[in-house]
Amino acid sequence: MTVDTATFRHALGTVPTAVSILTMVDDDGEDRGMTVSAFCSVSLSPPLVLVCIGNDATISGPVRGASTFALNVLADDQADLSRVFADTGARPFAGVGSSRGPGGMLLIDGTSARLECRITARYPGGDHTIVVGEVTYADVSPMPPLLYHRGTYSALAP
Ligand SMILES: Cc1cc2nc3c(=O)[nH]c(=O)nc-3n(C[C@H](O)[C@H](O)[C@H](O)COP(=O)(O)O)c2cc1C
Repeated sequence: MTVDTATFRHALGTVPTAVSILTMVDDDGEDRGMTVSAFCSVSLSPPLVLVCIGNDATISGPVRGASTFALNVLADDQADLSRVFADTGARPFAGVGSSRGPGGMLLIDGTSARLECRITARYPGGDHTIVVGEVTYADVSPMPPLLYHRGTYSALAP
């Protein structure tokens, strides 16, 4: 017995998450990005996080060949960026303020936090792949995070 997809999605929608843009550089040296919410901490020492990438996502192949990625935790005024980077095949970095992190990944301006990670493990997770990264660089801003809850964007209550 297993739960049906609609009920599963409905139940998980009750769990508020932060929204991040995963950035990485593909084999051709091109910047890629995708909106992700399946991102959490794993370990403090070493500092590990995980992110779950859909195996059908355009970025899935490039991530399979990558050794580094970054997570840009969006601020509560950056919902538009989340929408843009959730579009199929999106590589919409033009007009997005950013700089390179020490590991060479694009770090987006105006976010709540930015982490660069060295990939240390990959695990199968159903139709997703669980990618574990050791955080090699992080910075934090005072901007409050964007939240995603029941299919809509929101902000922390003041
Ligand atoms: C708020 C939000 C969170 C998302 N979180 C994830 C995620 O954690 N993992 C994932 O693989 N896709 C996630 N997606 C979906 C991808 O962003 C989207 O399917 C993908 O970018 C579509 O492009 P593609 O067809 O080129 O893969 C999320 C989308 C949104 C709007």
